[in-house]
Amino acid sequence: MERTFLAIKPDGVQRKLIGDIIKRFETKGFTLVGLKFMSVSRELAEQHYDVHKERPFFSGLVEFITSGPIIAMVWEGDGVVAAARKVIGATNPLTAEPGTIRGDFGVSIGRNLIHGSDAIETAQREIALWFKDEELVNWQPTLTAWTYE
Ligand code: RTP
Ligand code: MG
Repeated sequence: MERTFLAIKPDGVQRKLIGDIIKRFETKGFTLVGLKFMSVSRELAEQHYDVHKERPFFSGLVEFITSGPIIAMVWEGDGVVAAARKVIGATNPLTAEPGTIRGDFGVSIGRNLIHGSDAIETAQREIALWFKDEELVNWQPTLTAWTYE
């Protein structure tokens, strides 16, 4: 089953939006398989955003993601990588569609509340970076027959 890495960024935690954000993935029908509330070290932040290290916004990004606690999560489901990106919305909250997390809760690209893996291979890399195998829970919700045909 496909898995993705999602993280509620420091702004989402500080603004007390953890419950609202998690609820969207639960009600959509995806399955939570890993979650931790944590501080992010500079080293982990730099590894996570390695793909952006040449960009002008890289240092600000690392500063921001290490500026307060975050919620790191792994979610599972058919097509979850692409579908979670749709639930999250466009990178810039000002252009993100209403109904998406960024479209409903944000106004600034540097305060866009949540990270989501952008491809299946990225998800695999990010899950391995943020979680140990034993921190992930393999389980099948009893609701599965009512959400999957
Ligand atoms: P994310 O990785 O956080 O899920 O966001 P994303 O895929 O939608 O966007 P990405 O291109 O991966 O950029 C990572 C984060 O960097 C910040 N950013 N700032 N100032 C800028 O032009 C700029 N561009 C990107 C955003 O916070 C974005 O989420
Ligand atoms: Mg990205």
